[in-house]
Amino acid sequence: MGQFKDQVAVVTGAAGNLGRALCTALLGQGAKVAMLDISPERLDEVTEALPGGDWDTFPVDLLSAGEAERVIDAVKARFGRIDILANVAGGFAMGPPLHETDDDTWDRMLDLNLRSVFHCCRAAVPVMLTQGAGTIVNVSARAALNAKGRMGPYCASKAGVIALTESLAQEHKEQGIRVNCILPGTVDTPENRAAMPDQDHSKWVPPAALADVMLFLASDAARCVTGAAVPVYGRS
Ligand SMILES: NC(=O)c1ccc[n+]([C@@H]2O[C@H](COP(=O)([O-])OP(=O)(O)OC[C@H]3O[C@@H](n4cnc5c(N)ncnc54)[C@H](OP(=O)(O)O)[C@@H]3O)[C@@H](O)[C@H]2O)c1
Repeated sequence: MGQFKDQVAVVTGAAGNLGRALCTALLGQGAKVAMLDISPERLDEVTEALPGGDWDTFPVDLLSAGEAERVIDAVKARFGRIDILANVAGGFAMGPPLHETDDDTWDRMLDLNLRSVFHCCRAAVPVMLTQGAGTIVNVSARAALNAKGRMGPYCASKAGVIALTESLAQEHKEQGIRVNCILPGTVDTPENRAAMPDQDHSKWVPPAALADVMLFLASDAARCVTGAAVPVYGRS
């Protein structure tokens, strides 16, 4: 236990299903956790259920470059450093075939799933460069490798997360910064259960299982792993 003692982790999407599970796991391993999400109310709700530990909440809209920079500065001021950046914030949309897809849907998916990662990495990497160390774990999706119809913008945005992960990993492999991503299959969330009530939910991936893989990638056990996209499909 306590493998992340004295380390500072920034988790985006911290009020969501995976974000909550990841914050809980990081706190359980002794990390100090900066919890970023768009809704202050939902952050408050989530923190009520957290175990003890050193955490703080940072409401932010990560689609704004200025806000992303401000919040990374605020985390640095509060905790002194940033060892782990977990880019969890994201979202999903299905829709019509691509030739009927409107620009708003395209922009929303690319912004939410890819621009948010770009903004956070751009703001946090200089902190890690100054430290000479840091690790980033992004959240892509199985759909990045195995794209389905009627979800082109989502699949393209998550494929972009893999490309960004590989590019950043190349840029910083000599500077003590590792960058990896996970590819979740269907996650066992209340939203997915409501949308797919007839599926076998036991085949899906619990958020806590994804958090375990993210902890591994952030840990010293993965010190020789960078630029990886790790499938976490369960039996889904
Ligand atoms: N669920 C799945 O089956 C599945 C499968 C593959 C990959 N993934 C990926 O896994 C990640 C986590 O999924 P999840 O199910 O935990 O999602 P979730 O519960 O919707 O959590 C995402 C969180 O990010 C927040 N957020 C949205 N826009 C934001 C912004 N502009 N700035 C800051 N925070 C923002 C959301 O707030 P609001 O709710 O208010 O928008 C939400 O709290 C996502 O990247 C998702 O694409 C999920």
